[in-house]
Amino acid sequence: MKRRTVVMGLAVGAAVPAVGFAPGAQGASRTSSTSSSASKDSSLVFDPDAYTELTTSITDTTGTAHEVVYHFYKVASYVANPVNATYQSLNVSVPVKIDGSAVDASGAPILFANQVGGYMPSSVANATGIGGAMGPAGTLSRQQLALAAGYVVVEPGARGRSLVDSSGTYYGTAPAAIVDLKAAVRYVKFNKGRIPGDVNRIVSAGVSAGGALSSLLGASGDSPLYDSYLKELGAADASDAIFATGAWCPITDLEHADMAYEWNWGANALSSGSLVDQTVSKELTSAYGDYLASLRLTAKDFGTLTARNLDEYLVRTHLEPSATKYLTALSDADRATYLAANPFITWSGGRAAFSWADFLAHVGARKKDTPAFDAFDLSAGENNEFGTGTTANRHFTLFSLRHEQGDSARLDSDIPEKLNLMNPMYHLVDKVNGNRSKHWWIRLGTKDSDTALTVASNLGARLKSLGDDVNTSYYWDAGHGADQDPGDFIKWIATVSGYKG
Ligand code: DHB
Repeated sequence: MKRRTVVMGLAVGAAVPAVGFAPGAQGASRTSSTSSSASKDSSLVFDPDAYTELTTSITDTTGTAHEVVYHFYKVASYVANPVNATYQSLNVSVPVKIDGSAVDASGAPILFANQVGGYMPSSVANATGIGGAMGPAGTLSRQQLALAAGYVVVEPGARGRSLVDSSGTYYGTAPAAIVDLKAAVRYVKFNKGRIPGDVNRIVSAGVSAGGALSSLLGASGDSPLYDSYLKELGAADASDAIFATGAWCPITDLEHADMAYEWNWGANALSSGSLVDQTVSKELTSAYGDYLASLRLTAKDFGTLTARNLDEYLVRTHLEPSATKYLTALSDADRATYLAANPFITWSGGRAAFSWADFLAHVGARKKDTPAFDAFDLSAGENNEFGTGTTANRHFTLFSLRHEQGDSARLDSDIPEKLNLMNPMYHLVDKVNGNRSKHWWIRLGTKDSDTALTVASNLGARLKSLGDDVNTSYYWDAGHGADQDPGDFIKWIATVSGYKG
């Protein structure tokens, strides 16, 4: 396994890294590690003096530039026994002066921004300052906006699916990424009083696979299911529950995502113009009805959500309000142009109305073939996410497995638990976790066919029925990874955390 020591570029502040590796200490292998003493391991003690002082200019969502002086900390690893510290490290940014005025961030909320994409490894080890743009080009960096608002920003790395050691063993597949993020949260909470910011106001953020992991982090706080993995890494002895969760286009509920995808996009052609295998699509669609019934989701005005009313629910709850918001913001002339080009929308009394079928036609080409996630030929990224040992890609649904190997084939015995470890719905439906975060920011573009629109919607519906505070909005006509209201997210953090600055 590759290991690297992060070379600290400390210009100002302290001459030692926040967490130093004794060369021998990081050499412990996964099997020989003695992690029970993790909480006493001085390597997990955050050094408040080990920072570089940096100055940056951050333009906020109104276009105003702010000069922000901040302390930048590099934590060489957030676990005592890293498998690969290149990924299991984190950076902390703490504002100390904004536009010339001193800032005290000791009680500020902590934005915990993962940068995972595609369930791939993500590393912050080489970063020399707070992270730049996330999402599509031009999107303001969530982390930078948070810093300019006076919040503390923690940027954790995490192992991802493609990591393989010299013996050919995959060591970043499920559940590595979520275990790492939990270990990073534990590190932050363990360092209460040393690390700046309010560790009881950690707000997670992530996009796509990172949005999936963010929602999982929020849903699974302090679940004992992860304990053995965390122990093995020598994670700090602290809680991994977080206060609030931001999730943009979460690619989650993976074992049901093929069904959801066909229920949603089954009739949409691929960009080539061909329809996917309609037999497969219809089988998956029909299985989705059973899954949905098993969730027993309910929503105001709809009662129990079923495969028969879910389209109407999506249209009324998410899609029409999204179009309405979009059209309301246009000038009269631009709105008239848009409506003329999109006659499927009825605009009346300042509200948009349309049918599900017309909406689907408007979205057009679906992005993925069928099955979208557990590909028959094992070619999907998610097949790799469920790889193990020296097996790069595995089936994780009985449907795809049996399609390939016959009706008596059985999933590998470790798969069911790995699915639970990776699925926020497990922690919200099968085992309702009281230590989940209770504040949720969920966002999705209406033209995002990386997964079904129902994935984020079911998550939100379930959280709402559990009584959580759920702020949901779909971005009209936006594709995968969109973030159209980053400034509102920053304000929302202040509102839900009660932070006055
Ligand atoms: C991401 C996108 C996907 O389509 C997917 O299946 C998994 C992850 C991503 O952008 O992170």
